[in-house]
Amino acid sequence: MLSRLTIASLTAVASISVLGLVHVNAVSAAGYEPAGIQVAAASNLNNGKKIYAANCASCHGAKGEGGVGPSLRGDLKTPVMKRTKKAVVAWIRDPKPPMPKLYPGTLKAKDVDDVAGYVLATFK
Ligand code: HEC
Repeated sequence: MLSRLTIASLTAVASISVLGLVHVNAVSAAGYEPAGIQVAAASNLNNGKKIYAANCASCHGAKGEGGVGPSLRGDLKTPVMKRTKKAVVAWIRDPKPPMPKLYPGTLKAKDVDDVAGYVLATFK
């Protein structure tokens, strides 16, 4: 469990601290490329699971199989983004319609972090 996710997250934190504070993300023609976003070192997957069921499953399916929103399994390509917590956190914080912007209203920063970790760890 204390696996690649944790290591990847720590790496992300390390690289972000060089950049400084949170930046606004950017969508380029080549795909979705978030700039620096601060993410916690480890996601609470139990909280992530609850957040997902309450806020995401209606569009992305209970098992990430897709529905109104795209499948969250395998390559993320609507829009194209890496399967990294940094990219998914940035997207959830500032998605494009019709995906609703749930942060900072409904979701706290930690909730966004936890649900991103849950999605990446659960839907392969
Ligand atoms: C109202 C429906 C809806 C809800 C609720 C919703 N999404 Fe989405 N989501 C979408 C749609 C539609 C897209 C594709 C957006 C586009 O075409 O640019 C998307 C895209 C995504 C992507 C990128 C997928 C890819 O293949 O690149 C991720 C990751 C994602 N959503 C995660 C979530 C998470 C996590 C939640 C809950 C916090 C959530 N979404 C809630 C509709 C929704």
